[in-house]
Amino acid sequence: MNLMKNIKDILNQKEFSKEDLVTMLSAKGDDQKLLFAKAKEVKEREVGKKVYYRGLVEFSNICSKDCYYCGIRKGNNQVSRFNLSDDQILQAAEFAYKSSYGSFVMQSGEISSPAFTERIENLLREIKRLTNDELGITISLGEQTEETYRRWFDAGAHRYLLRIESSNRGLYQKLHPNDANHSFEKRLECLNTLKKIGYQTGTGVMIALPFQTLEHLADDILFMRDFDVDMVGMGPYIEHPDTPLYQYRNELIPLKERFELALRMIATLRIVMRDINIAAATALQAIDPIGREKAAKVGANIIMPNITPGLYRNSYKLYENKPCVDEEPQDCVQCLDVRIRLADAYIGYGEWGDSKHYFTRNTNS
Ligand code: 5AD
Ligand code: FES
Repeated sequence: MNLMKNIKDILNQKEFSKEDLVTMLSAKGDDQKLLFAKAKEVKEREVGKKVYYRGLVEFSNICSKDCYYCGIRKGNNQVSRFNLSDDQILQAAEFAYKSSYGSFVMQSGEISSPAFTERIENLLREIKRLTNDELGITISLGEQTEETYRRWFDAGAHRYLLRIESSNRGLYQKLHPNDANHSFEKRLECLNTLKKIGYQTGTGVMIALPFQTLEHLADDILFMRDFDVDMVGMGPYIEHPDTPLYQYRNELIPLKERFELALRMIATLRIVMRDINIAAATALQAIDPIGREKAAKVGANIIMPNITPGLYRNSYKLYENKPCVDEEPQDCVQCLDVRIRLADAYIGYGEWGDSKHYFTRNTNS
């Protein structure tokens, strides 16, 4: 039997096997330090020291899905449901524009209806108009038909985030109801459609889920590589008491370990997919107050400050301990400015900060 390769050798490679990835994901102590240092080096060489901001507005928690992990799932009747008005959304977009965030992200629970498609289409056009076509727009509105994706693309959205949650079909099925509304195949198909239409396409997974192994996570990285994704957002799973998955809370690794594993996932992904955009998920900050800044040190280059009006933040709780639910958008601007310097990085104000990978994959293919 072969002895396990040591991390130094692996980090000097250009290609990585699943076994290599598992070794990287399990690095501890000095090995972990080497992994993080390599990821920082790759990030700075490939995408620079800048961190880009995306002002995030979570405009509605009304959701037709029932994912077992999610606090705003349809079946949770403890949540008070809200839906921001068009004016409130437009104001948030203007706030992002005036704060020179460069880009705006609209996210909500998953709704599919002709009225919803049209509402978003109109909002996208209005945001483009109000911001002289200067504000980049990412949307994260779940699974939709090809026609809907096209209409939104034509109206001005140029990036789409749809997490695969887990690239392992068996694990995906354990995390979702077994019905047509939660089909793994449908999710894959949507990702392919988004890419075909021309979106910068983003996906991601949750880390340290119940039943999840390091092999699953290594496969997730291989999935992202083989799909040739442009952007990734991934963070630790955090249990929510009003969800079915909460019953497995005693099987989870401690929060601090989940956090470190998430950092190793980010670092490993940066080393494997050198020029993509990687977001530091808010869930990192729910565990460690400077979690996102720590992620920026080991490979992440995107931060999504929450600019949802303060009043509503408390109702968009996907997981426990969601940070900053009592802040107003203006508080976050000042807070982040200071924080990002901790990460030996600086902010790309007023720039879209597109995924470099989107352009290289389009010229190579
Ligand atoms: N812990 C961490 N992340 C979660 N998400 C949903 N519920 C949780 C949770 N309990 C993530 C999912 C989803 C994204 C919007 O939030 O990955 O795609
Ligand atoms: Fe699916 Fe919230 S119900 S992620």
